[in-house]
Amino acid sequence: MEKSTWLATPNIAVVKYWGKRDSFLNLPDNGSVSVTMDEALKTITTVEFDERLESDLLVLNGRRASAEETARAKKVLDAIRKKAGIFAGARIFSRNNFPTAAGIASSASGFAALACAASDAAGLSPSKRELSIFARLGSGSACRSVFGGFVEWKRGSRQDGSDSYAVQIAPADHWKEIRNVIAITNPERKKIGSARGMEITSRTSKLYPQRVRLAPKVIRMMKRAIRKRELETFLLLTMRESSHLHAVMLDSFPPIIYLNDISRQIMDAVLGYNEARDEICAGYTFDAGPNAHVYTTQKHAGEVRRLLSEIEGVRQTIVCKVGRGPRKLGSSEALF
Ligand code: DP6
Repeated sequence: MEKSTWLATPNIAVVKYWGKRDSFLNLPDNGSVSVTMDEALKTITTVEFDERLESDLLVLNGRRASAEETARAKKVLDAIRKKAGIFAGARIFSRNNFPTAAGIASSASGFAALACAASDAAGLSPSKRELSIFARLGSGSACRSVFGGFVEWKRGSRQDGSDSYAVQIAPADHWKEIRNVIAITNPERKKIGSARGMEITSRTSKLYPQRVRLAPKVIRMMKRAIRKRELETFLLLTMRESSHLHAVMLDSFPPIIYLNDISRQIMDAVLGYNEARDEICAGYTFDAGPNAHVYTTQKHAGEVRRLLSEIEGVRQTIVCKVGRGPRKLGSSEALF
């Protein structure tokens, strides 16, 4: 069988996924909305199925992956093997150009790249919907990275997950002025992984059921803001939704706190920037970590970047555009 190499990029949610109704299939309690990033951040993955391999071999950034990481990849690979009717083990090499698990969603680009490369290497030509479902089995948020542009992950209601996948709201060109200025405050691996954090929140937070109930309305408003390119609404909803997520995290027991003093200074700086201009032209959002994603437009991205880099403790800033989604690379770019 041929090997296949794909590139995928992360996505950063503006309506977040946080809580599962099925933790094996990664089925969410609520839908979510995200923007796929361009290739400023990327994962490249090569996959080859080989009858001689007794089990899957996964190498991440030059190192043999842990048993847990390999087991997550196996969920994606098993679904693809079943569909293709093959039994061979897989050899997978994957590389990120950004700090893994620093709250910049390396699992999203990683599992999207794996779903694309492994399906292709298995000889399948899956629909985007199928690819999204394969990617979701590795990491929920990865199901959104199989599309470029602005993306919705539909919650679905079936137990087998066949109606829980991502769809594109609008392509990258629809609103190409949008930028995400990422401020990395801490490149370390997070203390509480997303899966564990979600489990604690959904089991213990009294505010959580309210979040799940509100989600469909927030998603409707967010999709409308994106379709109409209403910047102020898009940014306000993004900031409010980020705070809502971190409120239910804090309301969990034991409390889950991903934000730190630097994150709070970033929030103040962005609010001050908007106030000084008397318009909402930047909006922060934080995932399961202290690093900030500040959505803004091309016009303001330079200033916002300077503003964030001046904050003590911000170690690196990266400016992303809206990306076009995964693409296949040639054999000269294969990782083995
Ligand atoms: C805060 O997709 O990493 O970034 O499904 O357990 O792999 P698993 O979780 P993951 O969670 C992402 C959580 C988030 C919000 C989001 O991206 O929607």
